[in-house]
Amino acid sequence: MLLRDVEPADLDAYVRMRCDPVMMSELGGPQPRERIAGQLARDLETVRDDSAWIKMIVAGASARVAGTVTLYRQEGISEIGWMVLPEFQGRGLASQAVRTVLDLARADGRWGPIHAFPSTTNAASNAICRSAGFSLVGQEERTFAGRVFQTRHWVVDTSAHA
Ligand SMILES: CC(C)(COP(=O)(O)OP(=O)(O)OC[C@H]1O[C@@H](n2cnc3c(N)ncnc32)[C@H](O)[C@@H]1OP(=O)(O)O)[C@@H](O)C(=O)NCCC(=O)NCCS
Repeated sequence: MLLRDVEPADLDAYVRMRCDPVMMSELGGPQPRERIAGQLARDLETVRDDSAWIKMIVAGASARVAGTVTLYRQEGISEIGWMVLPEFQGRGLASQAVRTVLDLARADGRWGPIHAFPSTTNAASNAICRSAGFSLVGQEERTFAGRVFQTRHWVVDTSAHA
């Protein structure tokens, strides 16, 4: 598994992740196809100005995009999110990619406590939080794309002193 910054050629992978009802079932539902190019352009801009990390997970020898891990600041906190395409799921890729991004964040030093809010029913994502060293803060209602979800709130401190 490798991680690299998002590139303009990732539009197809974005569409496959964000317009798929199953992939998006716990992230507010599928997004309209016509919004994806704009989303990618905004993500490319955040990578250029280094205000967020938008990492693509590249699966071993195939060099194919398997998913993404994003780390960004929102409402005054650092937040992480992840997705892995169906044909690459169940191989430990999300788990490995999240741990790698946390290691990069510790080395970088700017992100401090990193929060994650997987839906309470997202067993794999809650397992990732647990095994990657996050602590459970509690349960919270959160709104994604206009829909309200019950989520678990997890946090891991990547500050130098942690
Ligand atoms: C959630 C998702 C990223 C998992 O990706 P993945 O590459 O298949 O995950 P992994 O193979 O790394 O497995 C992650 C952990 O979940 C566990 N797991 C996987 N499927 C599971 C299931 N159905 N029930 C319980 N645990 C499960 C694995 O054992 C592993 O545990 P570990 O970290 O303790 O070893 C992927 O299914 C996905 O993108 N789903 C749609 C989008 C989404 O829900 N994103 C997350 C929003 S917070």
